[in-house]
Amino acid sequence: MVNYKVTTTVFGERPDFKEPRKILQELGRDGFGAMMDRFYDIVVESDIANFFPQDKDMLDKVKKHNTKFFVEACGGEKEYTQEVGHIIW
Ligand code: HEM
Repeated sequence: MVNYKVTTTVFGERPDFKEPRKILQELGRDGFGAMMDRFYDIVVESDIANFFPQDKDMLDKVKKHNTKFFVEACGGEKEYTQEVGHIIW
């Protein structure tokens, strides 16, 4: 079960938190990527679709790029950091 307890933090300071590793461990890298694919497919059909590219190739780039962020945020390889050249946090 996920704990949705909300806490306050100070802007610019790294909050004390643990990376949510379990989801990546459970799904594996391929399963995680498939989940992200599916997520953005739903997003572009939703009421906030206008924020996202409608072109399939552009959306595929966003999926791949953002998946790297969330893999890293979930305790996986530093894929996003390697791509953008600076660390997330
Ligand atoms: C309703 C909420 C959100 C909306 C509408 C939204 C929308 C967007 C859009 C339009 C982009 C740019 C896509 C492009 O390149 O064309 C983006 C990028 C991104 N978003 Fe969000 N986002 C939301 C919430 C979040 C949250 C909660 C997170 C993280 C916890 C997040 C993480 C990211 C990341 C990592 C990128 C890529 C940043 C980069 O360029 O390196 N987003 N988002």
